[in-house]
Amino acid sequence: MAILTSGGDAPGMNAAIRAAVRVGEQQGLELFGVARGFNGLLNGSFRPLDAGDVSGVIQQGGTFLGTARCTEFKTDAGQERALHELHLRRIDALVVIGGNGSQQGSFALARKGFPVVGVASTIDNDLTGSDITVGVDTALNIALEAIDRLKVTASSHERGLVVEVMGRDCGYLALMAGLTGGAEAVVIPERETGPDEIARVFHKAYADGKKHALAVVAEGARCNAQTLIRYFEEQPGPFEVRATILGHVQRGGVPTAYDRLLASRLGAGAIDALLKGQTGVLVGLLDDRVGTTPLGTVVDTCKPLNLELLDLAAVLS
Ligand code: ADP
Ligand code: F6P
Repeated sequence: MAILTSGGDAPGMNAAIRAAVRVGEQQGLELFGVARGFNGLLNGSFRPLDAGDVSGVIQQGGTFLGTARCTEFKTDAGQERALHELHLRRIDALVVIGGNGSQQGSFALARKGFPVVGVASTIDNDLTGSDITVGVDTALNIALEAIDRLKVTASSHERGLVVEVMGRDCGYLALMAGLTGGAEAVVIPERETGPDEIARVFHKAYADGKKHALAVVAEGARCNAQTLIRYFEEQPGPFEVRATILGHVQRGGVPTAYDRLLASRLGAGAIDALLKGQTGVLVGLLDDRVGTTPLGTVVDTCKPLNLELLDLAAVLS
């Protein structure tokens, strides 16, 4: 059985690999790691993995197998090449640890009849089939720590503060970072807000005597950091505004206890699912239990965001 990590890396991926290898080995499987995601399938970059190879990785962020984006794998020819390499090495099944795009890749192989199980792992938390995905907790805590620090200096200078967080098209990280970071405004793609509204909120914060005002914005929102910087340059308000784009800092952390636990459960769950004959499914956390969802459902459905939390963030700000 082979294991790969694909798409954006997420803290906890190593813990998921470790769990899959250790459970698989105990079940008598011969395991292989694939380097650099689907690229490694195409290039035949396989290496044997045993319990010792995953020693000391549970606390490491990133993925020791490497990850990548692989355009060729999106084509039928690329997928056929991957299948050829898998058959050549007599690999019977594949575990794909990754996010939305990666699970579309898993689904493509499953549709061609190859046994695949996905493990829900992305900082974006945009995967149907898992209430929370591996890496989210760490990324959120990193964003929160940055926000706490930025608020200190913004207060000293009495400034407005825009913090942009990752999430691709999903506002989950921004919403949670905004709510838990005490933001005056949260901007997410699921409910767009214009710059005028942010300016109004900043004005109100100033009028209320606040020392700073904070807007947490999702990178996928139209009103992102760049839009707001331009807006406030043209129409300065009572607060001088500074913006910080957190970017990849959020992905690079040491996985939290929560992510290590989640990754361990899902990595082990992937082997259990395969050994029970389940394929073409995503292993995720559903109502605090490890469960599976058909990949067809995963790739066809958008995970809804709890917008009540956006209203709560506004009430609490
Ligand atoms: P993530 O898994 O973090 O969402 P990406 O969206 O970048 O990351 O996808 C990772 C990789 O998954 C892509 O580079 C590609 O190899 C594969 N992939 C994405 N979409 C598809 C698709 N529709 N069909 C087959 N493979 C895909
Ligand atoms: O999918 C994870 C993610 O970090 C997104 O939040 C972000 O939009 C994207 O990957 C960034 O990708 P890259 O690492 O290629 O810049």
